[in-house]
Amino acid sequence: MSFFVVFTLIYFSLHAFVWARMSLQLDLSWRTFILGLLAALALAMSPYLARRLPETWNPAVVRIVWWAVYVWFAAVAYLFWLQLAALILQLLARLAPSAWFAWLPRGRAQLAAVAAATALILIYGLWAANHWETPSYTVTSPRIKRAVRIALITDTHFGAIHTDAWVDRLVKTINGLQPDLVLFAGDQLNDHVGWLDSQAEILRGLQAPLGAYGVLGNHEIYVGASPSSRFHELAGVRLLRGDTVSLPGTGVQISGVDDPGHSPNAKQATAREVDRLKSALNPGDFHILMFHRPWLWPEEAAQAGFDMEVSGHTHGGQLYPFSWFVKIYYPYLAGHFEAHGSHLVVSRGAGTWGPPLRVGANPQIPLIILKPES
Ligand SMILES: [Fe+2]
Repeated sequence: MSFFVVFTLIYFSLHAFVWARMSLQLDLSWRTFILGLLAALALAMSPYLARRLPETWNPAVVRIVWWAVYVWFAAVAYLFWLQLAALILQLLARLAPSAWFAWLPRGRAQLAAVAAATALILIYGLWAANHWETPSYTVTSPRIKRAVRIALITDTHFGAIHTDAWVDRLVKTINGLQPDLVLFAGDQLNDHVGWLDSQAEILRGLQAPLGAYGVLGNHEIYVGASPSSRFHELAGVRLLRGDTVSLPGTGVQISGVDDPGHSPNAKQATAREVDRLKSALNPGDFHILMFHRPWLWPEEAAQAGFDMEVSGHTHGGQLYPFSWFVKIYYPYLAGHFEAHGSHLVVSRGAGTWGPPLRVGANPQIPLIILKPES
């Protein structure tokens, strides 16, 4: 089954559960419930339809549609979790002495409480998505010749949702960290790449004396490597696609590999690609691997000679409690990890995928400070 079918079925099931609970709480007729299910089917397909809106449409109109579709996505997610919690409490209330659950609202009052809590979460999530954290991680090594400040940017997901003003604020925030180097670890782009020339121009305002480098994430593979390369060229970001560069005077080398996208045996294929980079590494330098997904660390990355890997992709779960599920596939969800002298830095990402909200996973611009060992 295609990703679209699986996604739509899951999203429809969330709608159906929420609508079934609402119908009971409001005491609606079967006929109304069935009609509502048809509307739920249309809503379940709305993210897919939004992605298909052509670039010939007015960007402002598409932006409004995307916001409506994806804020609704977050609303349905939280309506689902809160309705599920209310149902579990109601079932427990049947088993326990009645006085214990006297506070639990029922019927319309329960629905009103769930809707109000969802609205508060959405307002918080919209606010949180626009407030970057800038955690700083210091890494020392005798092979680093001088201090290098690296701003790690991942998962900006430029597209219909974000305005030029948002990109401008991002660039100003990065410049405020006074980086020597900016690394873009994938998923810079999301959709409607033909509209993003102005955002690429804004990225040219990044101030980093050692330059800006990037890798392709899974979303650059989805929108196409060729338009993605063009965007990065316009933005003044050099893509590392199986390449290695030396940063003069620092003792630091940076390598990058493409995300494997949907390719079969994705992990093994990238492990081979990383192993192939070995021959380009100067012995005695400090080696950084840029790979969008926090995979291959520590074993494969360290075996190939890398001292540090920088990644994104997880979004830290983006909307709690999805972080629980993301952590099953990506145990290094976000932060700085160290094992046997090898480092991994995973960013929660600067932007959002789908809903322009973050709950319990604030957006990040990590600053990595490389220092010579004194
Ligand atoms: Fe990603």
